[in-house]
Amino acid sequence: MRMYDLIIKKRNGLELTKKEINYFVQNYTKGNIPDYQASAFLMAIYFQKMNMRETADLTMAIVESGDILDLSKIKGIKVDKHSTGGVGDTTSLVLTPMVAALGIPVAKMSGRGLGHTGGTIDKLESFNGFSVEITEEQFINNVNNKNIAIIGQTADLAPADKKIYALRDVTGTVDNISLISSSIMSKKIAAGADAIVLDVKVGDGAFMKTYEDAKELGSAMVNIGKNIGRNTVAVISDMDQPLGLAIGNALEVKEAINTLTGKGPKDLLELCLTLGSNMVVFAKKANTVDEARKMLLKTIEDGSAIAKFKEFIEAQGGDISQLEDTDKLPKAKYIVPVKSDREGYVTKINAQNIGLVAMELGAGRATKESIIDLAVGIILNKKRGEKVAKGDIIAYIHSNNESNIEKATKGILQNYKIEKEYTENIPLVYDVVR
Ligand code: URA
Ligand code: CA
Repeated sequence: MRMYDLIIKKRNGLELTKKEINYFVQNYTKGNIPDYQASAFLMAIYFQKMNMRETADLTMAIVESGDILDLSKIKGIKVDKHSTGGVGDTTSLVLTPMVAALGIPVAKMSGRGLGHTGGTIDKLESFNGFSVEITEEQFINNVNNKNIAIIGQTADLAPADKKIYALRDVTGTVDNISLISSSIMSKKIAAGADAIVLDVKVGDGAFMKTYEDAKELGSAMVNIGKNIGRNTVAVISDMDQPLGLAIGNALEVKEAINTLTGKGPKDLLELCLTLGSNMVVFAKKANTVDEARKMLLKTIEDGSAIAKFKEFIEAQGGDISQLEDTDKLPKAKYIVPVKSDREGYVTKINAQNIGLVAMELGAGRATKESIIDLAVGIILNKKRGEKVAKGDIIAYIHSNNESNIEKATKGILQNYKIEKEYTENIPLVYDVVR
């Protein structure tokens, strides 16, 4: 087989075989195919597209390029959840203990990414002593005994994706549905998921800007799942404003604790119930999502969700006195209200830009080397559709550096759109693709 022939074949709009797709993925990962040929090939895929079968084969080829986590020693159906990325997305922190409280195994391997805030691991490190440096054996034991554990990335998962993604990033070939969906699904499958619940965000704070694009991506991933025998569902949810009220690491941990004790923001809870109920059904602990939703709500009402969270934090070395008294979580030196300079209704909160303001305060990493400040971030005080008077507080800045407050204030004011009327009715959950 020659790479040259595969480029011509795809360029001419023909369907690639499984063998050909494997040939490309294996040899590009090993360094046997030069970037210029891989670039041409990706561009051919970009224009000529791949069908469902090719996309499923590409996904499995990427999975097989590296380690596949063996979770077979964990009893039960392992259901994973993945979000395509939003701002202030606290769902994982809330969902995982709720689901685990129902006896469903939650086995998460996570890395640390770039972004507006840290990833789930960074957020959890708001608890003194909390560590994801556990052995795989400990990890599996914890999941079997407590139904929940999180481990830092130890295995070399989907190395082909790292290489291909880096090339796509610089060759204008990121936004192709087959390439995106195989990239996301391969990582979940390599991490050992038996079933997958996807949260596909739509809006200006998301990768997918329109409902149509988000639905297409969701459907593609559900189809991959169908093709490779992993139950998959995609929830299409709003990211035209940040989710919940908190954007920042310790701030989101506190928001998660509030939500687990029934005092959290409604939108965050609602999305957790929608995603979680699908996880519960996949895990075969309920027959319908309605039944699952009731079971999940009960974990909040009867205290089992927060008890599970506490058990999880303690098992991984975290100081649970900070959970009992959230004033002990990392706290910023300055908490500064941002006041509206107009009256009207909040019609839009630009999630992307608000996320960047949080990152500049130190809540997220701009580069891999950046150090996160767990204490800082933003608490929204008004959300879309709410009425504000001039002088009302729309948000609070949590900062450890007096000199960045003015810029953050401006950034928040600029990205809150306040108008005479609010007539739009953007849903939190647009659709669930099965
Ligand atoms: N996120 C991914 O993991 N992969 C893509 O290709 C795009 C977004
Ligand atoms: Ca939030």
